[in-house]
Amino acid sequence: MTASNTWRVGILFSTSGVTSIIEKSQLNGTLLAIDEINSAGGVQGKMIEPVIYDPGSVVKQYGELAETLIVEDKVNVIFGCYMSSSRKEVLPVVERRNALFFYPTLYEGFEYSPNVMYGGATPNQNSVPLAKYLMETHGNRIYFVGSDYIYPRESNRVMRNVIRQGGGEVLGEEYVPLNAGIPKFKSIVEDILRKKPDAIFSTVVGQGCINFYTAYYKAGGRGLDCPIASLTANEAEIAEIGAAAAVGHITAAPYFRSINSDANRKFLTRYEKKFGTTLDVTSCCEAAYSQMHMFASALQDCGGMDTDAMRDALLGMNFQAPQGEIKIDPDNNHTHLQSRIAIVNQEGEFTIRSKVRHMIKPDPYLVYPQINDWSLQLQKVIGG
Ligand code: ACM
Repeated sequence: MTASNTWRVGILFSTSGVTSIIEKSQLNGTLLAIDEINSAGGVQGKMIEPVIYDPGSVVKQYGELAETLIVEDKVNVIFGCYMSSSRKEVLPVVERRNALFFYPTLYEGFEYSPNVMYGGATPNQNSVPLAKYLMETHGNRIYFVGSDYIYPRESNRVMRNVIRQGGGEVLGEEYVPLNAGIPKFKSIVEDILRKKPDAIFSTVVGQGCINFYTAYYKAGGRGLDCPIASLTANEAEIAEIGAAAAVGHITAAPYFRSINSDANRKFLTRYEKKFGTTLDVTSCCEAAYSQMHMFASALQDCGGMDTDAMRDALLGMNFQAPQGEIKIDPDNNHTHLQSRIAIVNQEGEFTIRSKVRHMIKPDPYLVYPQINDWSLQLQKVIGG
């Protein structure tokens, strides 16, 4: 760190390219938290100053820009990444240089780095409750469609195991390139309509998600008959897809914009004041927001950005987030999170149908029982 009068932190979210729709929301969550921290006087009297790069949704760029941030800009704390493939590029850079990296995105699990704080859900916090919900509510014949990279392939491996544990069956597993347009989904959608699964599990991300839902709708697929269920389809993407094509589809996540709580209403009010809309508030935006606040608390404790001291301060830390209480697990650097399942209603808004009673401990290596885990009992919810 330079001897400047600010705390400089690196930010790597794409504002262009295939995942920019979601990464812009993560950038906004990060910037809102920085504004809140700075307008309350900063940390130990110094402001947080973001150093922002746009990796353009190009996987290799994330690693290269992480290196630039550390070597040229002299920062040792970085916030960023949506796709797991981009996280995998940043990982060796922060490990080699002992920097601290905050990753505010759900992912496939099966990873641990002492240099990463994982703020998004692992499969035991989203895939397992979603599989349980789908099999209890819709049936156990599921079709998988994903973008072609590590998160969808690994998530589907986990989901297949969970569905089989519950006595279910996987009717198909198809992958498309990240930049797949609507025509690329034609033959997959036809196969789905022919095989008539009870539900579709989609790990198609970014612009591809919008194109897949649109292709399904255009071919006659309806969420109210056979829903597409996802861990990533979010408010910003649903707004692009439109209510008619999105109604009935399902997402499992810790946070939805429609959560009915004072903490969430206050968060949305501040977001709207800064950005003029709440249309693009997503669970990854909320995770990014919470991670920046937790970083600021750790910095306040440590009075400096030494990675080892900061890690010590972060492990075990609780935070009252817009989703409810969350906590960084002291054993694995992942986050205890709330878990909710929501369905898109006729207005294109998520209606929360169920949630677990308490935040769920992250189990990135899935060492505990899965589909029959008593702690994942879903509660019916009216209004968040
Ligand atoms: C993801 O690639 N972790 C959404």
